[in-house]
Amino acid sequence: MSGALSGLYGGRGVTLVSGRGSRVLDDQSREYVDFFNGHGAVLFGHAVPELVSELAAASEGLWSCGAGFESPARAELARALGDVLGDGRVFICNSGAEAIEAALKLAVALRPGRSRILACRRGFHGRTCGALSLSFNPKYRAPFKSILTAVEHFNPDEIPGRIDEDTVAVFIEPVQGEGGVHPVSEATGRAVSDACAASGALLVADEIQSGMGRCGAMLASELTGLRPDVVCLAKGLAGGLPIGAAVWRGELGDFPSHGHGSTYGGNDLVCRVAVAALKLLRERNYAARAAELGHELRAGLRALGRASVKDVRGMGLLNGVELDIPSLGVVKALQRRGLLSLAAGPRVVRFLPSFAANSNDVSDAIRIFGETLDELEHDGGASDEPA
Ligand SMILES: Cc1ncc(COP(=O)(O)O)c(C=O)c1O
Repeated sequence: MSGALSGLYGGRGVTLVSGRGSRVLDDQSREYVDFFNGHGAVLFGHAVPELVSELAAASEGLWSCGAGFESPARAELARALGDVLGDGRVFICNSGAEAIEAALKLAVALRPGRSRILACRRGFHGRTCGALSLSFNPKYRAPFKSILTAVEHFNPDEIPGRIDEDTVAVFIEPVQGEGGVHPVSEATGRAVSDACAASGALLVADEIQSGMGRCGAMLASELTGLRPDVVCLAKGLAGGLPIGAAVWRGELGDFPSHGHGSTYGGNDLVCRVAVAALKLLRERNYAARAAELGHELRAGLRALGRASVKDVRGMGLLNGVELDIPSLGVVKALQRRGLLSLAAGPRVVRFLPSFAANSNDVSDAIRIFGETLDELEHDGGASDEPA
């Protein structure tokens, strides 16, 4: 990463310059199978013709008009997102963490007099102060403890027993991403939903990574027994452009007047691309495709039968391989061989293929993963340096 930027992310040592579909090129014209996709934001693949042409057309129109004015693009996106929860209301912002902040403020506003906020161990919800309060990783939280909100963290299956009449909300990822790729079981999802319904606590599903068809349905909640009151979306919603959204069941009510806002949130340019992305998702039935391709990927990874692989798990195109060697060294070695992935904790390698991936990409990825593990098992394990 350039010296002008901070070292927050750990350099990958590669400069990416272009991409098409499921492949990207670096500045040495080296091609990579992209199962990283900008932390999963590039859900439809790179340079998708329909999104490129919509962006080009939108760039000739209004880029931003301000939330107080009506915007056809924003209204269309709000309608489409509202449909996700039947008659949902929507707040549009610019990132995942902002969607979580909106959900947190909304929940507190809708449940006055209650004080407890619950979230999951190993959960990840972002880095702003509210989102960080909800995130579990003590390493991320510790330096900022003095300015975080009190949140109680439990294992997902413990949560139903912890919800009471003083509970404002439960925040849960249907499939934990950053925390190691752990799908919530349907039984747990149902129990959490039932307990929220019985006590009046709001169930907030963080679908920032798992939503938008990635896991095999518009919302992974549908596949994990969760019946959310509020859903947070972001990655993939506008094909990789910055956007986030909190969607909630309309009958719950709304923010207090002037209780929230965003200058850039719901800008016309990004909303138009998001509308085009949602249309593609529907027309091409990408959710079903994601389910199929995910099965193919997991079956192939399991069939490798490598000694260092302890588990292969995931849903649709959100997948993790748990290893008995450090994940960062594996991510780095995969990159050297032309496959981009990311870590999900110290021992899990995560693959986030886009909808543009095909069986060819999947079999290349499986081959590269097998060769990489052969190399690392032969060398006695991978280093734990940042990749
Ligand atoms: C489940 C989940 N929630 C929230 C976030 C935060 O999103 P952003 O980085 O856009 O703020 C992420 C990002 O990785 C995520 O995966």
